[in-house]
Amino acid sequence: MIDTQKLESTAKALVAQGKGILAADESNGTCNKRFESVGAPTTEDSRRAYRELLFTTPESKQFLSGVILYDETIRQSASNGMPFAQMLAGAGIIPGIKVDKGTVALPNSPEEKMTEGLDGLRQRLAEYVAMGAGFTKWRSVITIGENMPTDACVRANADTLAMYALLAQEAGLVPIIEPEVILDGTHGIARAESVTQKTLETVFASMASYGVYLPGLILKTSMVVPGKGSGETMVATDVAERTARVLKSVVPSECGGVVFLSGGQTPAQAAENLSEITKRGPYPWGVTFSYARALQEPALAAWAGKNENVSAAQTAFAKRLTLAGAALSGTYATSME
Ligand code: 13P
Repeated sequence: MIDTQKLESTAKALVAQGKGILAADESNGTCNKRFESVGAPTTEDSRRAYRELLFTTPESKQFLSGVILYDETIRQSASNGMPFAQMLAGAGIIPGIKVDKGTVALPNSPEEKMTEGLDGLRQRLAEYVAMGAGFTKWRSVITIGENMPTDACVRANADTLAMYALLAQEAGLVPIIEPEVILDGTHGIARAESVTQKTLETVFASMASYGVYLPGLILKTSMVVPGKGSGETMVATDVAERTARVLKSVVPSECGGVVFLSGGQTPAQAAENLSEITKRGPYPWGVTFSYARALQEPALAAWAGKNENVSAAQTAFAKRLTLAGAALSGTYATSME
């Protein structure tokens, strides 16, 4: 028997009004690439120090309901010796954990991806529960291109997401399912909308057929945006109109919440689009952000791996949190940048 009450209350807390989720679950490889781009050292302690800077920014307590950690990070501690998971929980922020093991080429359609990590997942989940995690994340990748996504790609990923979600719920952890429709590509916004619609329909059909408990589940989705190489300009009102339309038509009203990834949008675009999406509510589920890059980019650039820049980096992070917070009440304006 799964603990439906616990799952539901965790999901509710994650999408509580005015708060959102920080994705700080970059794998070491991705994190190092981002560090290299600003000249920061790519060591374990450097990754630890950077995450500590984010978590101890005072505005984190105000604007964050949860933080998604990576396996290395959930095992790390702040410089005062307190484990990160415990420190976050003490600030009223639910620690979460990315549990997928990344993507590999899909057989038969190698430009597409499937996500690994189901083997041994039950044991890993038990370990994360013991470390204080309250929720989990699994990312799938849907690529738009000529003859892509294939039905096989969408279905394989939807089924994997459903099996992961069941295992997480069995462990008492809220699963965030993240079928990310990738921004890269020359497709226009209309195609992004139809692919997102179809992907989410397939994903929720799998959730239903596997018996995933919807009030204890959170969808992390891409916004409907034009492909990076499409030549189309991103217009926030159009993005919001299409995103709201898809979500309202596909996401069951019992779902525990809907959160957005930023997916390569600039911090300002991600805030403006979210603000416009908010304005198109009310929605039957809580809606909020779960950004990595759109919250972190200015802070990472300000820090650049140097101790003396911690305060400037925290100021930059606080600004992104505050503006994302404004977007949750539909009051963000580009003039606030
Ligand atoms: P971005 O907001 O940078 O897309 O990251 C969100 C995330 O969790 C990707 O898996």
